[in-house]
Amino acid sequence: PRRIIIDTDPGQDDAVAILLALASPELKVESITTVAGNVPLSQTTKNACALLELAGREDVPVYAGAARPLYKAPISAEHVHGETGMAGANLPEPHLRARSVDAATHIIDVLRKEPAGTITLVCLGPMTNLAHALTHAPDIAPKIAHLVAMGGAQREGGNITPTAEFNFFVDPHAAKIVMAAGIPTTLLPLDVTHRAIATPRRLAPIADLKTPVGDMVVRMLGAEDRFEKMKYGWEGGALHDPMTIGWLLRPDLFSGRECNVEIEVESPLCLGQSVVDLWKVTNRPPNALWIDNVDSDAFYTLLMERLARLI
Ligand code: BDR
Ligand code: CA
Repeated sequence: PRRIIIDTDPGQDDAVAILLALASPELKVESITTVAGNVPLSQTTKNACALLELAGREDVPVYAGAARPLYKAPISAEHVHGETGMAGANLPEPHLRARSVDAATHIIDVLRKEPAGTITLVCLGPMTNLAHALTHAPDIAPKIAHLVAMGGAQREGGNITPTAEFNFFVDPHAAKIVMAAGIPTTLLPLDVTHRAIATPRRLAPIADLKTPVGDMVVRMLGAEDRFEKMKYGWEGGALHDPMTIGWLLRPDLFSGRECNVEIEVESPLCLGQSVVDLWKVTNRPPNALWIDNVDSDAFYTLLMERLARLI
C-alpha cells in the first residue's frame, strides 16, 4: 500500500477523508498530524483521536502541530463545522492522546528516515505544519513521493473571501512556501469539490449502511441546518477533503491539468488567492496538477463501498 501522512484540521469533511483513508487497503495511514484551522488546535487534535477510536485504529499515532499560522492571526470556521468542528458527529471524549513530538518534527523525522519516494503527504487544512517542516529541513522536499492537498479556487471563486479558499487564506504564507518547494503536487480546489455536493440521493446509500460510521457521516453532511443548505440553498454539504483520498484511490475519476499555481500574500483584497495559469500565459513552470473535474456519482459510490468496511 501507499504510505501516507494525513495533515488535517478536523473538520467534518476532514473526518470523512480520514475514515475513507482508514477504510482503504491501498493506503497505509502512517500517522495523523493536526493543525489549527476549522477549529483551534486542541479541538482538531481531540477530533483526530476520537475518529481513530471510532474506527478502532488507536494504533495510528497522532502528532499535534501548529496552533497558529506562520504570520497571520488565526481564523476558524465554526460557522461551517460547528463549535466542536464536527457538528453532528457526537463522538465521545477520546482516551487517545497526541504523542509528545510536534507535527513538523515528526514529518521531518519520517521523511529523513524512510527512502525517498515512499511517503505521500495528504494536506487537508492550512499548510502551516508542512511549511514549518520545509523551512527547518529543506532536505526533506525531494524525499516526498507526492503531496495531495485540498486547497485553492479559481473558476469557482473563494469561500472565505471572494477570491480565496479557506485553507489557503488561513495561512497563505505557508501555502506559498509549499507550492515553491518543488514537490510533485496535486491540488483539489473548490473548482472540483463543489461538483460533489452531498445530496440526499448520494447520501442515501451511506444511510442504508446503518453503521455507526455511516450514520455519523449522514448526520454531519445531511443535517437540515447544514451551512451550505442554509446559506446557498444547496441540497447538501460540500465534501472537500475526501476528494484528496479519492484521487489517490481512483485518479481515473478525476481530470485536470498541470499548471503553475502561485499564492497571493500581499494584496489585502486578494490575500490567499490561488493564481492559476490555466492558459500558460506566463513562463512560470507548472508546479501542480490542478484538478477541476470529477465523476461525482462514481466518487460517492466509492465512498459508500469503503465506509461499508468500517463499523
Ligand atoms: C476547506 O476548508 C475547510 O473548512 C474544509 O475542511 C476544507 O479543508 C474547504 O475550503
Ligand atoms: Ca480541512
